This record gives sequence, C-alpha cells and structure tokens, in this order.
Amino acid sequence: MPTYRIAPSLLSADFARLGDEVRSVIDAGADWIHFDVMDNHYVPNLTFGPMVCQALRKHAVQPDGAKVPIDVHLMVQPVDALAQAFAKAGADLISFHPEASGHVDRTLQLIQGEGCQAGLVFNPATPLDVLDWVIDKVDLILIMSVNPGFGGQSFIDSALRKTEQARKRIEASGRDIRLEVDGGIKVDNIRRVADAGADTFVAGSAIFGQPDYRAVIDAMRAQLSA
Ligand code: DX5
Ligand code: ZN
Repeated sequence: MPTYRIAPSLLSADFARLGDEVRSVIDAGADWIHFDVMDNHYVPNLTFGPMVCQALRKHAVQPDGAKVPIDVHLMVQPVDALAQAFAKAGADLISFHPEASGHVDRTLQLIQGEGCQAGLVFNPATPLDVLDWVIDKVDLILIMSVNPGFGGQSFIDSALRKTEQARKRIEASGRDIRLEVDGGIKVDNIRRVADAGADTFVAGSAIFGQPDYRAVIDAMRAQLSA
C-alpha cells in the first residue's frame, strides 16, 4: 500500500489564527500543509503571500520538532518571481499551473534550483500532455478536481480518469513522483480517489469546516486503509 498523505488546505482555515490552525491540524494528524496562493489575476480570488508562509514556517512542525512540508500551490501569473520568493520563505514543494508560466521547463528548473520540489498543476480541462516533455523535472503532479479559486466546491468526477492516466505516466517514468488530488475531497470520496492512483490528498472545507480535525483525518485514513 502506498504511503498516503493528507494535506489540509489553509484556504478553509481561520485566517485570524493561522498559526494555531497549522499546529492544530498537525496535532490532528496532517502530513503536509497545503498553502493556496491566489493573486486575483490567474484566479478570481486573493489569499496570502510569502510573508505569511515565512510566519507559518516555525508552526509547521511535529511535536518532536520535525518539519512538516509546506506544499505551496501557486495560482498566480506570472510564476517565476513568486516561486523564488516562496522558496526563500520556507516552502518545501512549489506547484504551478503550466498555463501560467511562459516557460514551463525553465520554471521547474528554477524551483528545483532553489532547493524545493517542483510540481505541475492540471485544471479539470487541462490535458497531461506537457508531461511528455518535462516529467523528468517533476516531483509532484497535482490534479485539480475543482476549478481553482475557491474552497467548498463539488468534486469533478473526470479528475478520477485523469488521475489514472497520471499514475500510468508516473509508472512509465520510473520516477518517485507524488500524485496529489485537490478539491472537493471528503471522507466519502477519498477512497475512490486513492483507487484511481492518488497518494496525496488535499482537503480544505472537509477538515477546517469541522469542530474535530482529528476525527475527520482519522476517518479519511480509515477509508484509505479499508
Ligand atoms: C482551490 C484550492 C484547493 C481548495 C480545496 O483553488 O486549490 O486547495 O482549497 O478546498 P476544498 O477541499 O474545500 O475543495
Ligand atoms: Zn490547492
């Protein structure tokens, strides 16, 4: 069985208490912190920048002090300058939408050159074809199961078929690439997403919308180990 990871999205957290929310969700069993960056240009919403990531870096730790990866999802255009700023602000993984970068190969190299893992994000209508040319420079593939910009949306089922296709590409590449799905993931559909080949799951409203984060994350893990 693959090592599954749960990555709560801060988009649905209490923005007035982000440090506490990061610590709470890690105490509740989160593996990664999913950090949704929106610029009100590439997507019609605006969230937080590198300074907030830097402020949260010291909170994204396990009780024993081990770092919890900050998984930055850039919904921004252009990409490069912000990718560099987030790398300096303590991001561990930085993913971007290929449509938002003028030079996908160069942006991937820029992120890896900053010492971060690099990911590509595929919107519901975006095919995986770019992977034909850059899968050797990708550490993470992020499949959007909602249209980017907002939390609390419904899961788009075609993301399952795209996740299966991505899993096949990863296996053919022979590389250790994470396969993350993002948007509308709940306790009652996470198993189907895992069966399609995902190993990392973003959940925002399903977790932060509930009073007991541990209960939700435990329920998700129970589905994954069923
Ligand atoms: C949407 C973001 C997602 C979103 C997930 O643009 O990329 O990460 O926050 O939120 P839920 O789990 O509520 O769909
Ligand atoms: Zn996201």
